[in-house]
Amino acid sequence: MKITIESRPLEQVDAETLIIPVFEGRPETRFGAADLVGEVTGKSLELTLLHHVRGVLSTRILLAGAGKPEKFDAAEQRRLAGAAIRLLKTKSVKRVALALDADFAAPEFAQAAVEGAILGDYDPDNYKTDEKKTVDSFAVVAPAEAEALRQGVERGRIIGEAQNFTRAMVNEPANKLTPSGMVAAARQMAEQYGLECQVLEREEMAHLGMGALLGVAQGSAEPPALIVLRYKPEPSHSTAHLGLVGKGVTFDTGGISIKPAEGMEKMKYDMAGGASMIGAMRAIAQLRPAVAVTAFIPCVENMPGSRAQRPGDIVAAMSGKSIEVINTDAEGRLILADALTYARSQGCTHLVDAATLTGAVVVALGHLRAGLFSSDDGLRDRVLKASQAEGERMWAMPLDDDYKDYLKSAFADLANVGGRWGGAITAAIFLKEFAEDTPWVHLDIAGTAYLDEAKPYLAKGPTGLPVRTLVRLALDWE
Ligand code: BES
Ligand code: ZN
Ligand code: ZN
Repeated sequence: MKITIESRPLEQVDAETLIIPVFEGRPETRFGAADLVGEVTGKSLELTLLHHVRGVLSTRILLAGAGKPEKFDAAEQRRLAGAAIRLLKTKSVKRVALALDADFAAPEFAQAAVEGAILGDYDPDNYKTDEKKTVDSFAVVAPAEAEALRQGVERGRIIGEAQNFTRAMVNEPANKLTPSGMVAAARQMAEQYGLECQVLEREEMAHLGMGALLGVAQGSAEPPALIVLRYKPEPSHSTAHLGLVGKGVTFDTGGISIKPAEGMEKMKYDMAGGASMIGAMRAIAQLRPAVAVTAFIPCVENMPGSRAQRPGDIVAAMSGKSIEVINTDAEGRLILADALTYARSQGCTHLVDAATLTGAVVVALGHLRAGLFSSDDGLRDRVLKASQAEGERMWAMPLDDDYKDYLKSAFADLANVGGRWGGAITAAIFLKEFAEDTPWVHLDIAGTAYLDEAKPYLAKGPTGLPVRTLVRLALDWE
C-alpha cells in the first residue's frame, strides 16, 4: 500500500473514496450529511457511504463514526481507519484518502491512521488462489504537511508493515514454516534492514549445555535453531541493553503428552512470540532507537517422534538447573529457559519475553488482554505504559515467591508444570528461575496473538500483538 500526505482542501482531494471522521454529538453538516440526520450518528465505527457528493472531486465519501470527541484517541483513530479500509476493500476500492479531523491532527493521529489502514488491509489469504482485493494507495489529508506530520506517517508505515510482517509469518502453516524457515525469514529481513543475524545450530547449543531446549527438539526431524538479531544504536549514553525473547514453536503437537485433535491446527500459531520479536526488530532497525536491542528466538517443532522426550525425563538447562519434564506439552517454558540464560550471557540488562505459553492465561483474561508478569516494577511500568499508548491491552498478574512451591520435583531442581491451578502464574514462575536477577517482563499472549473472529478493523487470524508495544518500549527507552 502506497502511503502519501495530501494538504489540499477536502473538496479537491481526488480519491475513489475519501474517509471523513464524524463525531457523536457534533453533527456533520458538510457533504450533504445534514440530510442524513438520524442515519449518521457518529457512533464508533458506524460507516455510511455517500456517492457523487456535489462539489467534491472524490467519487465517494465515507462518513466514519469516531465516537464521542472526548473519548477519541490514537487507538480509536487506528480502528476507524482499519474498519473503513476493510469495508472499502470488499468494494474493490483502490485509491483511498482519509481526512484528519481539525481537532485531532497531531502527528500521532496521522501515524495511527496509517497503521490502521495497513493493518486493516491485511488478510491471511496468501494461500487462496482466487483474486485478492487490496487497497493500493492511502493518503492522509492534513491541513499542512509539516515535518512532524511526515515523521508520524512514516512511523505509522514502518510499524504497520512490521506488524503485518509478523502476522503473515504467524499465519504460515507448519509445513511451510519450520524452524529452518523461520531462520531463512529472519536472515532475509536482517539483510534487508541492516541487522546482524546469528544462528545457533544444534551442535553449538549442545556445546553451550542447552539441554532444556534440545530435549524439546529431539522428537522432530526438523533441526532446532536459536536466532539472534542484533541492533546497535549510534554511540549513545545509554548502557542499557534490551533483550527480546520470543517463543518459536513452529508446531506444538504436545509431544508425547499429545494434545487432543480438536483445534490442534491452531498450534501453528505457537511461534507468534518469536515472530513478534522478528517483526519488532524489523521496525527497530528502521526507526533506530537510542538503546541497544537484541532478539533471541528459540525455534523448535514439538513432535512425538521416536526420539521424543518422555514424561519423567530429566534435562539439564544451560543455567545448570535440572528440570523434570512432567508434561512434554509444557515445552515453551523449556526452550525459553535456555534462551533467557543465553540472553543474560550476551549482556542484556533488561529482558522482555513474549510467548503463547498457557491455555490458563486465556481462562484468566480471555482474548482481550495479554498476561504480564514481572520481577521488576520499573520495567513492568515501562511495558504497561507502552502497551497503553499502543492500545495493546495487558494486565499485570501476580508472581509471589511461594508460587514456586507448585513447581517442586522429587527428583530434580524443578518440575516443568505446577499442577491444575494458577497455570499461567506457575509458567511465569518457571521462567523467572532463568531470568534470575535481570529485570524481566513475561507476556503470555496465548489469548491475544490471534483472533477467532474478525473485528471490523482486523481480519480473523494473527493479530501481530505485541509488536507495537515492543517498538515503543525501545523508542521511548530514555
Ligand atoms: N502452546 C501451548 C499453549 C497455548 C494454549 C497456546 C492455547 C495457545 C492457545 C503450550 O505449549 C501448552 O501446551 N501449554 C499447556 C501447559 C500445561 C501442560 C501445563 C497448557 O496450557 O495446557
Ligand atoms: Zn505445549
Ligand atoms: Zn506451546
